[in-house]
Amino acid sequence: MHVTTKHLLSDSNGLSEAAQLLRAGGLVAFPTETVYGLGADATNGTAVARIFEAKQRPQFNPLIIHLPTQIAAQRYADFSSEALSLAQAFWPGPLTLVLPLKQGHGLSPLVTSGLSTVGIRIPDAPLAHDLLTRCDRPIAAPSANPSGQISPTRATHVLAGLSGRIDGVVDGGACGVGVESTIIGFDGGPTLLRPGGLALEQIEHHLGYALRRHSETDLNAPTSPGQLLSHYAPGAAVRLNAIQKNPGEALLGFGPVKGADLSLSPTGDLIEAAANLFEALHALDKYDTETIAVSPIPNIGLGRAINDRLRRAAAPRV
Ligand code: TXA
Ligand code: MG
Repeated sequence: MHVTTKHLLSDSNGLSEAAQLLRAGGLVAFPTETVYGLGADATNGTAVARIFEAKQRPQFNPLIIHLPTQIAAQRYADFSSEALSLAQAFWPGPLTLVLPLKQGHGLSPLVTSGLSTVGIRIPDAPLAHDLLTRCDRPIAAPSANPSGQISPTRATHVLAGLSGRIDGVVDGGACGVGVESTIIGFDGGPTLLRPGGLALEQIEHHLGYALRRHSETDLNAPTSPGQLLSHYAPGAAVRLNAIQKNPGEALLGFGPVKGADLSLSPTGDLIEAAANLFEALHALDKYDTETIAVSPIPNIGLGRAINDRLRRAAAPRV
């Protein structure tokens, strides 16, 4: 299906048009502090189905619903004391909580892939908050990229992948955090389901104990839907922990490395590196080299999310 994709400004007119499109069952991409999401009314099964069609997702992975406030979230899910404590500490922000669905939630079963849990996020970006308030209903939104490609951190990335397949994109410039939200589930105790924009250390410091985690070998396990290893692939092959640049490679540097074509952060700042990650991969992919080599990234703080995305980008393609 071909539609004209409206490029909407992030002013009051643009947001009002975006909200109208979403309330009428349309697909609108919008910026959050992590990445651009591809939004649809989560109570409208047809609208949610169009997300999968537009992204050409091979399976129906469960989607995160986005809401303006924690009070709104309590209409859709039951919060354990640990969940409540994390929500109060880190919402709004780059944290998704996977929680038991509440009776009479009204969400399309496609949103949860028929699971009895739902992923909920309260974005911190003022623009997202404003749009969600105007919509006045839960908005399902995966990252706004075709399935298997890199998440978009700018409206131009969204248009490059989905123009003609979605009704609009709200242009709010670059996303501040740059990697997707950290996902925590509570089945059997607080568990890290995906490292992301909120550092694990911060969550563990708040809880006062270590989160359970999926081991790296679990990445392709069916218990973590949507976590397929080769999930964030650029067109070029990716070589990790590159100490130097080989002939024919483009080098994505981190810290004071020589000969980098682009750098995630010349000073070795992990927050800056996360914000630049997807944009840098998008940009290097345009160099048409066979391989993108990437400098080693320390596996602490946001480095965990960066390394997780890089391992997926480097994995054999499925
Ligand atoms: O930062 C983000 O989280 C962005 C922005 C747009 O909010 N969204 C995002 O969505 O990254 P997506 O669909 O690309 O990734 C969501 C992940 C998927 O891996 C999905 O399997 C998992 O969340 N997920 C969602 N609901 C779940 C549930 N009920 N149980 C387990 N995993 C769930
Ligand atoms: Mg995604």
